[in-house]
Formats: sequence, C-alpha cells, structure tokens
Amino acid sequence: MLTAPDFRFKNSNTNLPEKGNYTWKTPSNIALVKYWGKREPQLPENPSISFTLDACFTLTTIVFSKRDLRLSELSSKPDKKSIKQVHVNKSVPFEIYFEGVKNDEFKPKIKKFLDRIIHYVPFISNYTLVITSRNSFPHSSGIASSASGLSALALCIMSLEKEINPAITDAYFNKKASFLARLGSGSASRSIEGELVVWGKHEAFNESSDLYGIKYPKEIHKNFKNYHDTILLVDKGEKQVSSTVGHNLMYQHPFAKQRFTQAHENLSKLNIILQNGNLKEFIAIVESEALTLHAMMMSSNPYFILMKPNTLEIIRKIWAFRAQTNSNICFTLDAGANVHILFPEKEKKAVNNFIVSKLLLYCQKGDYICDRVGLGAKQL
Ligand code: DP6
Repeated sequence: MLTAPDFRFKNSNTNLPEKGNYTWKTPSNIALVKYWGKREPQLPENPSISFTLDACFTLTTIVFSKRDLRLSELSSKPDKKSIKQVHVNKSVPFEIYFEGVKNDEFKPKIKKFLDRIIHYVPFISNYTLVITSRNSFPHSSGIASSASGLSALALCIMSLEKEINPAITDAYFNKKASFLARLGSGSASRSIEGELVVWGKHEAFNESSDLYGIKYPKEIHKNFKNYHDTILLVDKGEKQVSSTVGHNLMYQHPFAKQRFTQAHENLSKLNIILQNGNLKEFIAIVESEALTLHAMMMSSNPYFILMKPNTLEIIRKIWAFRAQTNSNICFTLDAGANVHILFPEKEKKAVNNFIVSKLLLYCQKGDYICDRVGLGAKQL
C-alpha cells in the first residue's frame, strides 16, 4: 500500500519536454456501496465500490506548452537551480474549452484541483495548459461529470509525468492517477480502471486505501459480467444541493457513525456476493444503499430531498415488475433524481422491453441512456 509521500514527484530530470499533447477517454462510474461523508484532504469516511461505466465518458485533451519561466516570472531571480522550488505552489495558467466553446464556469473547480495536486506534480507549473473536453452524455442530463472529468485531467497529467519519468510502472501510474483524481472529486478516484473499483480502506482488501481506488482484486462471478445500467433521466436540471455540501452535512449528522459502519458491513457482504453470484442478495444491498444515501440527505440538518415523484414511481414499478416476473432488475441512485437500472446481461431483452414500454413516460422528454459495465480509461 502506498502513502501520500510515495506520490511526490521524485525525478530530478530538469529536461522537461517543450510540449506535450495527451488525450484520455475516461468513464463515469456508479457506486454500489456509496461514498457519502468525507474529511480533509478528500478522504472518504467509509469505503465504497462502483461499477465502471462504458457509454458515459469524458474525452479530454491537454496540450502542455512550456513557459519561458526565466523571462516571464523569474526575471528578478535568474538562479537556474531554484526554478523548481520557486514554481512549486504557483498557479498554473490554463484555458478550458468544453464542447468546443471556451468555458470559464469550470475554471474555479479546475484551479482548485490544480492547486491541490501541484505538490505531487510540481512540473506542471512549468507549463501553460490548454484543456479541451467533451462528454458523451449531455451536460444537462443530471449525470455528474466530475468523476469522468477529473479522472481525465489526472490521467493527462500522469501521461506527462510518464514522459518525464518513463521508469514509472503501470501500477504506479494508475494509483497516482486515482490519487490525483480523488483530490479533484472523491468518486473520480474510481474512474481509472474497470470493471469494479474499491476506494477506501476495508479489511477484506489488503491493498485498499483511502488515498486511491483499486481494481476489485478477485474473480467476479459471471452473473456480473457485462452488467447493464440503463439510466433514466428523470430530472436533467442542476442539483439544488451539490455533493460537496451534502458530504459536509455528514459531519453533524446524528446517524453518521452507524452509516459508516453499515457501509463497511455492506461492502463485506457484497465482496462475497460478487464472487458467488447471488443476485437476490446483490439487489438487497444495492437498493438499500441507494435508499440509505437519500435517507441520509433527508435526515441531515438542513434536510433536503433530491428524488422527484417520478423517481419513486419508477422504483415502485421496478418492484412490481420484479414481483411479477422474478427478474433480477434493481435500481440505484446517485446524488440526484435519475434512476440507474441495473440488470444482468441475460435479462437484457425482457428488461429493455419493460423499460421502454413502462418507464420512459417518467423520464424528462423520454430520455434515457443505455450503459453497461466498462473496462476503464483509455489513452487515445
Ligand atoms: C452520491 O465524488 O461527487 O455519487 O468528492 O465532493 O466531488 P466530491 O463528491 P462526489 O460524491 C459522489 C457521491 C455519490 C456516491 C458515490 O459516487 O459513491
């Protein structure tokens, strides 16, 4: 297991490339055991596990252009050997183009991210960054893009690190990418690898860490191969309460301690289920996790509700369909009103029919996204 100092950039190579241009396609993910509650610096209060998705992804390119530091900013301190130190903790100049248009709205979040990670990747302060990014899903779909968006930035930066220091291993590359992504958004730490990722220290996984996500280390039962996630877009508006605010409300939450204990227990149970393929037990944990997440929101101070009437209608219909057909369909929710419908590959025909005929009327403009478990981020 690696600790934070292991992620400090150690290479003394001052021959930085003049330019770098890296593109990554990074997936979104859907948590089965939820992360809700964190402490500084972006450490989870409980471990979580997620399916990596496939169709919902972000495509990001970063072009790094070396700055002439001595001319632009070091004119009063032309001491070569101090270049690295002088520029640690300096802001990194960058521009962001989202869906083809210059976007200043995302700048504060990215600036905060770069400021947080610069300690671990000080070489980026030698560059100007031009970031171009787009999502496969509409920005206004109510699907959080922070996981895929921030993991993409982390991976592009790691590609530059790898160019400067080719000796780093793939394992280190992935762990550090996850570590950096986490500092931008907790769930982004789970958007590097597939098909299942555990983030947060848990006794069943020796290699697990609060600092980064790890690929689920055991053989996954065939029932969970190619698992489907059809996302019903119930409400595409901006969330009234951001995840960050919601996480913070767990500090004073009367049930926080029990909740964190429960997440540990649920992950222990799910670990067994993922290996033995028991779908009924899988459903019981996954749905309970989703409703517990929203119960935490409803019982925090101030309290809030992110589900909409149609979220509940869909849940009722799923339960009725399951009772009638003995299907293994189930739902989960993230911090919003949209419903993720999970089901095994072998039930895809029946469940798709059910979704199209009975559930689309609860979606905004009938919109939904067919996704499934994916294999992780890819460099293009
Ligand atoms: C409900 O990762 O979006 O989706 O760390 O503040 O960026 P920050 O929060 P974020 O929280 C996601 C919470 C969740 C559950 C989960 O994905 O585990």
